[in-house]
Amino acid sequence: MTFLEEVKRRRTFAIISHPDAGKTTLTEKLLLYGGAIHLAGSVKSRKTQKYAVSDWMEIEKQRGISVTSSVLQFDYDGCRVNILDTPGHQDFSEDTYRTLMAADSAVMLIDVAKGVEAQTKKLFAVCKERGIPIFTFVNKIDHFGRNPFDLMEEIENSLGIRAVPMNWPVGINGEYQGIYDRETHTVDLFAKDETHGQQKLASTKESVDDPAFRELLGEEVHQSLIDDIELLDVAGDEFDFERVRAGELTPMFFGSAMTNFGVKPFLEKFLSLAPSPAPRKALEETVEATSEDFSAFVFKIQANMNPNHHDRIVFMRICSGKFEKGMSVLHRQSGKSIRLAQPQQFLATERTIIDEAYPGDIIGVFDAGTMGVGDTLCASNHKVTFGDFPIFPPEFFARVSPKDTMKRKQFQKGMTQLAQEGAVQIFEQPHSMDSFIVGAVGMLQFEVLQYRLRNEYGVEPITDSLPYSVARWVKGDVDIKQLKGLDNAMAVKDNRGRTVILISNEWQMGWVVERNPDVVFLETPTLNEEV
Ligand code: G4P
Repeated sequence: MTFLEEVKRRRTFAIISHPDAGKTTLTEKLLLYGGAIHLAGSVKSRKTQKYAVSDWMEIEKQRGISVTSSVLQFDYDGCRVNILDTPGHQDFSEDTYRTLMAADSAVMLIDVAKGVEAQTKKLFAVCKERGIPIFTFVNKIDHFGRNPFDLMEEIENSLGIRAVPMNWPVGINGEYQGIYDRETHTVDLFAKDETHGQQKLASTKESVDDPAFRELLGEEVHQSLIDDIELLDVAGDEFDFERVRAGELTPMFFGSAMTNFGVKPFLEKFLSLAPSPAPRKALEETVEATSEDFSAFVFKIQANMNPNHHDRIVFMRICSGKFEKGMSVLHRQSGKSIRLAQPQQFLATERTIIDEAYPGDIIGVFDAGTMGVGDTLCASNHKVTFGDFPIFPPEFFARVSPKDTMKRKQFQKGMTQLAQEGAVQIFEQPHSMDSFIVGAVGMLQFEVLQYRLRNEYGVEPITDSLPYSVARWVKGDVDIKQLKGLDNAMAVKDNRGRTVILISNEWQMGWVVERNPDVVFLETPTLNEEV
């Protein structure tokens, strides 16, 4: 296969959803179709007992959640599929956001009974900001669910994107019996599996106009389907790929991951529509995925996946060029040449060493501490620097200090390393050497921090939560003492020495902004931006 063909067949996407919408189940079904796993339940069990890649993931086992994210890869229909697995717990972390930076598209999974939930909105906003196409899968239609027109309207109202149904649930009053495919004009019905009392994929395909089908569905359900289809045809948006690409339109699919209903048609349609690796903007130029010069950026760092070796694995997304094992590349931020030895790929829970990889692929390499999140790696004869990562504004704050002050050194080392890895954001208060102010986008990050300080750095931390939920970076050289309205705020420095104001809520922040009209407050600067 040529380099170009390899690039074109890549599909790299993340599945975003609210906990319990069925992400694990859907991922598992996709992997089963791709032949990447052979037993239903293998991914699922990861959420419970079997997932024991390393000890620090003990926290995952205890809580039955996935804290770390890996990449799942398989081949289907000639495509090489990379699913970026994101943490799914409601205490989600910055990793979830960062993973989206490495995706070319996203699948938004929603529960037919619940619709769009809060966390989905935040992740959706990041996708929209990045301009990556979003596909919607409405799950659990084997169950009682909401009216599909209501769901379309909710998506539009809460996310600001129009939905174009690719298929449609057949049934009335929230009781669905199957799905109608708007392209082929055929219907798949659920069939009862009498032995297990479960529903499973029906093998019959009927045309809507078939009289036998009308009889099968019953007059009322049949008429309602005909009416719905007509309404969609007349009043619905037309499928327009350019609008999907622009993030204005989301192709919407209905199905049921658990019963396998509609999953295969979804996968096939999705792969035919989802984009292959897109060009990426670098400071110097736009890097085409089809350019043969290697480039990649780091989107995630995972330390101590194996505590016996104290390893640090840097995950990078390849943007252009072919990767070959052992190749030397330029680390843009340090100017150093780095040999990418022992590249790892993560297939479900297993690591394998890989020899080559292409744009759209994710690889993990060992690193002693040179690389940070957002860094660029490129061919030494074609220098590019990818734009910086945004800082995802923390919403939870705590003061963290070591219980045993004799362990101050280890504590500082642990905090600095964990912050560099992106596990949490750290801030320092002037004249306060013994503690850090820690910011996180989800409470779970504090738990992971405590666990890792204890287990990897031998420091027992004390964590006192702080009554702030808003952070703003102060632009320019401003004397904090001159700022007005900071009575209930705290001024701190981030780990790049930039001044940050922490305050309890948006309303109070608005008050501070109003009282200091000459000062610019930034909500989401980038990691390295000079402010
Ligand atoms: P998550 O990763 O998004 O958190 O969700 P997960 O796949 O774990 O699914 C959450 C629950 O929803 C699970 O039930 C799962 O079996 C169920 N589920 C997933 N897809 C469907 C579907 O299409 N229809 C129905 N009816 N249920 C679905 P659980 O009781 O939490 O776990 P389990 O007892 O099934 O293992």
